[in-house]
Amino acid sequence: MATIQWFPGHMAKARRQVVEKLKLIDIVYELVDARLPMSSRNPMIDEIIGQKPRVIILNKADMADATVTKEWMDYFKQTNRAVVEVNAQAGVGLKDIISASKRLLDEKFTKLAAKGVKPRAIRALIVGIPNVGKSTLINRLAKRNIAQTGDRPGVTKAQQWIKVGKELELLDTPGILWPKFEDEQVGYKLAVSGAIKDTILNLQDIAVFALRFLQANYPERLMDRYQLSEIPDDIVQLFDEIGKRRGALMGGGIVDYDKVSDLVLRDIRSERLGRVSFERPSEY
Ligand code: G4P
Repeated sequence: MATIQWFPGHMAKARRQVVEKLKLIDIVYELVDARLPMSSRNPMIDEIIGQKPRVIILNKADMADATVTKEWMDYFKQTNRAVVEVNAQAGVGLKDIISASKRLLDEKFTKLAAKGVKPRAIRALIVGIPNVGKSTLINRLAKRNIAQTGDRPGVTKAQQWIKVGKELELLDTPGILWPKFEDEQVGYKLAVSGAIKDTILNLQDIAVFALRFLQANYPERLMDRYQLSEIPDDIVQLFDEIGKRRGALMGGGIVDYDKVSDLVLRDIRSERLGRVSFERPSEY
């Protein structure tokens, strides 16, 4: 997993790099994690990309709770956003990205055609926080179509464009932006989803957050997975029960809370607790 320590200097540089690339493209693909579409956005994205047309891509839809993803799709549509759900790993939903782009740029390209400009492919840039699946999506779209097109006016460095059929050209390097850190809840959601490393926050705190979340939102799955007849209100007791059932013990039969934390987080990330979403539009 990529870990980036974000300092103000890095943020400014990341932002500059995205702004620089905006000059080359028609449309931005804002990639977020479908399980936490708000928490996995860059906090300054609107300001950074300004008026540039944008498609919000809810990636890892295969891991998210389908009912909640539907709510998010409706939510973004109601706020007049172009939104698609995708599983970049399996290549599901890629056509929707292209058709949404064409819809958004129809007017611009029609105007250009009226002025006699020859039709050309839509140029796009993928942006998102680390680990939302930017490289996976680029590779999926690219297949073997990476084309070196050399310098374009206004850029000193050669930009690699990836041809996706005849209709789309994608910049081969995505814009990597920082996640939201200010809010503790957001930090925990990012940690549980695997977007930030467990070492940034305390491992047991992340597991406490995850277990409380499952208890409130997916109690049956929690009981099922760890063979609990009921979920104890006391979190230490919950750790103890899981630890004993799963053999996460230290010498002398004492439950090892770090081991329990690790196994719970691993279970969530590998979908052994099913498809889970960590936030819904009604909270926003
Ligand atoms: P990034 O460029 O935005 O940093 O993300 P990257 O593509 O490296 O993806 C981060 C992780 O998310 C990878 O897993 C990748 O396989 C996984 N991923 C990306 N898109 C999807 C998706 O739509 N569904 C699912 N289920 N997973 C997705 P990893 O464990 O870090 O690496 P690896 O096991 O693929 O090697």
